[in-house]
Amino acid sequence: MVDEILDAFKEKKAEIKERNYDQKLKVGIIGTGWIAEAHVNAYKKCPDVEIVALADLIPGKAEAFCERYNVGKVAFFPSHKELIDSGMCDAVSVCTYNATHAECTIYALEHNVSVLLEKPMCVTLDEAVAICKAEKNSDAVLSIGFQPRFDENMKMLKKVVQSGELGKIYYIQTGGGRRRGIPTPFGTSFIRKETAGIGALGDIGCYSLDMVLNSIGYPKPLTVSGYKSDFFGKAPEYEHSDVFSVDDFAAGFIRLEGDIILDFRIAWAMNLDTPGDTIIMGTKGSVRVPSTECWNGSIGGPLVIYHEIAGEQIETIIPEKDNSENCFDIKIRSFCDAVKEHGEAPVPCREILYNQAIIDGISRSAELGREIAIEIPEI
Ligand SMILES: NC(=O)c1ccc[n+]([C@@H]2O[C@H](COP(=O)([O-])OP(=O)(O)OC[C@H]3O[C@@H](n4cnc5c(N)ncnc54)[C@H](O)[C@@H]3O)[C@@H](O)[C@H]2O)c1
Repeated sequence: MVDEILDAFKEKKAEIKERNYDQKLKVGIIGTGWIAEAHVNAYKKCPDVEIVALADLIPGKAEAFCERYNVGKVAFFPSHKELIDSGMCDAVSVCTYNATHAECTIYALEHNVSVLLEKPMCVTLDEAVAICKAEKNSDAVLSIGFQPRFDENMKMLKKVVQSGELGKIYYIQTGGGRRRGIPTPFGTSFIRKETAGIGALGDIGCYSLDMVLNSIGYPKPLTVSGYKSDFFGKAPEYEHSDVFSVDDFAAGFIRLEGDIILDFRIAWAMNLDTPGDTIIMGTKGSVRVPSTECWNGSIGGPLVIYHEIAGEQIETIIPEKDNSENCFDIKIRSFCDAVKEHGEAPVPCREILYNQAIIDGISRSAELGREIAIEIPEI
């Protein structure tokens, strides 16, 4: 019986794409900090991609990055503007801190340069709307950098929900966190308002939101009651408390179109191992996604479906799937394919607009201390 249930979710074999490796894509990297290394490593695995330009606001940083990661012969620019104006790039990775995501992306799209934009999409809903408008008016491709989308387990979760096996979805709980895990890998850009704009809410919250919203088809968010705090970042014993100016914990209660409730919480630091598993509850079945200790968009164990079969209450365990290919590499490869084929963005901004609307809503509601309506203008 369990096999029959699992067979219902069997994947069709993915089509192998014929790529024209002679046609080279010229790529630039904007922002040469921590995540830029992962972009460079993944681009290097694409024989039809040439990294031609690097830009960073900090003098000498792009040059040092080039040397350290053996990027090759490239041109250097002092900001995104000069890099785009050079006309050298068909596409760019925007690897800047959150606060400059919007200006870099919009400038590139206005010049018909395709963009792979790191997560979170940006800081505010207004910025997200401006990015989506720029994408609409551009011939270029814009994809948002959510590599967990390419995790086989995440794809499975979506397949389970989309199969209808769970019936009508009415309640979702999601989020995650770390007992102690405020990110300061190479400096403090994640924890300063002027560079990050938002803290845990945007940094890892966007992954939790994408996991469940993508599974249920990204319904529109309608209202939100939000909360955020900074008890750990502002604690005098925390080494960077003097510059900490974002949230380290956030929660929200969101109503989605289709009469669905989304209960969300996220933490960079807390006195707890996990704030709970992700659960998606439906009228015919529910699915549990075990949380992880270091929430970064991966799953903490096999998905479990709770349902009834022949009047019996049954749990179906979906064995954890191995990812044969690195999800970050697929994020880069699928973006390059979309640019070369003038195809659909692998992670379209019109979906992530709703993700950003929830983040923005939680932030604004928390500041106002009351529930608010989420109003998203027409793009
Ligand atoms: N997908 C993932 O797994 C993942 C992991 C880590 C970080 N990120 C995201 O990547 C982004 C960057 O994170 P990071 O840790 O690399 O940050 P970072 O602070 O280490 O690097 C950002 C760099 O961008 C530069 N920059 C800012 N604005 C610029 C501009 N207009 N033109 C040129 N350079 C500019 C800064 O000078 C800095 O060197 C963040 O949004 C973060 O959320 C994603």
